[in-house]
Amino acid sequence: MSLPDAPATHRNREPILRWLERYLRESSTVLEIGSGTGQHAVHFARYLPHVTWIPTELSANLSKVEAWRQQSGLANLLESLALDVCQPWPEGLAVDHIFTANTTHIMPSEAVERLFQGAGRQLPDKGYLFLYGPFKYDGQFTSASNAAFDLQLKQRADHQGIRDIEQLIAWAGDAGMSLVADHAMPANNQFVVFQRMQ
Ligand SMILES: C[S@@+](CC[C@H](N)C(=O)[O-])C[C@H]1O[C@@H](n2cnc3c(N)ncnc32)[C@H](O)[C@@H]1O
Repeated sequence: MSLPDAPATHRNREPILRWLERYLRESSTVLEIGSGTGQHAVHFARYLPHVTWIPTELSANLSKVEAWRQQSGLANLLESLALDVCQPWPEGLAVDHIFTANTTHIMPSEAVERLFQGAGRQLPDKGYLFLYGPFKYDGQFTSASNAAFDLQLKQRADHQGIRDIEQLIAWAGDAGMSLVADHAMPANNQFVVFQRMQ
């Protein structure tokens, strides 16, 4: 049986991995939100063997992640969990950092705020929240292609759209996190790093 494929993951997984390996030097546990097909989870768990990776998705989408996880046979890639950022998060999670890719423009903005609130509750002091995706700065898109992508998202669903980085920084601050880095990535994306500060 062929596994579900998200073509963009083939292009962006290596540039993302380059940053993750710089921040994740020590043994740690990372919770991923909105794992999609699970292809990122497999790639990062494979090339960061000192990291325990916990993929999560909306319950309706978990079977995709599980198909990739089971095929990988990776011991440091744990069984995926159902996690909707707008619902109570799974109990008893012990995680050091949180990663999410290409989710903030898909979720409604209230859900993005909930993501930040949940991350603030979940992360220990100094824990990172890594966000990968396109963002707006000073209300401006970083490229014409991102402006076109935003239009396409809004035509598909009113609640979707590329978020303002300033709004994300404000929500992070409300949840006890500070922006520590914002790295430009290929194809007008960003790798944004927040850190939980007590
Ligand atoms: C564009 S996909 C990105 C998937 C994957 N991270 C990637 O980069 O290929 C957005 C994902 O966000 C998930 N998502 C949407 N709303 C969510 C919510 N409220 N809580 C958690 N995940 C959500 C969707 O199920 C979807 O898999």
